[in-house]
Amino acid sequence: MALPEQVLTNDDMAAIVDTNDEWIHSRTGIRQRYIANDKETTASLGLMAAKKALAQANTLPNEVQLIIVATSTPENIFPSTASLIQGWLGANRAGAFDLSAACSGFVYGIDMATQAIRSGSINTAIVIGSETMSRILDWQDRSTCILFGDGAGAVVLQGSSEYGGVLSSVLRSDGSGYDLLGVPSVGSVDIAYNNDHKPYKMHMNGREVFRFATRIMGESIEQALDKAELTIEDVTVVVPHQANNRILESAARNLKLDESKFISTVEQFGNTSAASIPMALCVALEQGRIKDDDNIVFIGFGGGLTWAAMVIQWGAKLDQESRSGPIFIRFRRRIAYLLARWHARLKRILRRSSNWLAVLGFRVGNDKEIRLKTDRHDR
Ligand code: COA
Repeated sequence: MALPEQVLTNDDMAAIVDTNDEWIHSRTGIRQRYIANDKETTASLGLMAAKKALAQANTLPNEVQLIIVATSTPENIFPSTASLIQGWLGANRAGAFDLSAACSGFVYGIDMATQAIRSGSINTAIVIGSETMSRILDWQDRSTCILFGDGAGAVVLQGSSEYGGVLSSVLRSDGSGYDLLGVPSVGSVDIAYNNDHKPYKMHMNGREVFRFATRIMGESIEQALDKAELTIEDVTVVVPHQANNRILESAARNLKLDESKFISTVEQFGNTSAASIPMALCVALEQGRIKDDDNIVFIGFGGGLTWAAMVIQWGAKLDQESRSGPIFIRFRRRIAYLLARWHARLKRILRRSSNWLAVLGFRVGNDKEIRLKTDRHDR
């Protein structure tokens, strides 16, 4: 995972809006969140997380065939943040796209990548959840701006003939609740005609979202467990979307599961939307709470409304042919990142210089090819 440098505590927040640490902590469990500075962006945080995941998986960028970035705060409406990261990584054999499913996006992304691997279409993918929520918060609305933070998390997925990995998933949406939380953008009537919401600023009906989250969490976890032919007793830990500790407590009660089995990072990071599950997964791994062959559950929910539950058997064995040692792979990864940077710069220079040459009257490209294209057009 990757975090911005700057921390914003609840006391700092009280200097921005009329609130206090006691209110925020008792209603949500949050004590602080990380906030991106001018130089930290959704792509730069996502890139940092992706590089760490590749190092952890002992994988080279050119082995990656698909990059999915789950985000509600992309760098652009298009091109995708995933394409930017693909170029920076030098993942030259990878397709790349952004996925919009709000706070459920990371689990949706894992499901998409898993299906692509299972179909045989690809063997290796990176799924990233990355957000700079601070840029879309309405910093005058104390009921929303206190909840969110920035950060990124990433995982590398690889095909294996061994049983394990993603065992089941349940993806759902209820569009009737599309107005309960969101961020209007250029295509929206809310901006063009109604003026109901501020452009690019988040609005939310907290109470309704709270009710929705507590209702679907237990239900969808049970559906995913049924599909995987497991029960809640088989689960080592649940890695939920980190919205609010009260939501997690309520889900634990519904499932009759010891609350300590729910990984919570709400206190340190707040709600980092699509990044919250991979960040919580990372913390759980660092704390040694997930071991090989453990069954774990992801549960995401958020705008859409969307929700997604997934059962995973951790640490499936990989079918890797004998590879050169990790030091050599690390060295090759460094070279790949360096080359990627220069490769992109060189390509841009060549593109620009070919435009200048064309302006100056030089014909660039293969004459024969140009003639063939013209002939085809004439016909
Ligand atoms: N500090 C102090 N007071 C605040 C406040 C803040 N940051 N935000 C709201 N209040 C006030 C309200 O103005 C209201 O005052 P009033 O009674 O005088 O009108 C009072 O606190 C209660 O507000 P309410 O909205 O009913 O609080 P709540 O108990 O429902 O808690 C949330 C609000 C947002 C914490 C809660 O609804 C929630 O967590 N919802 C889920 C949100 C979420 O997780 N969204 C993301 C999902 S992906």
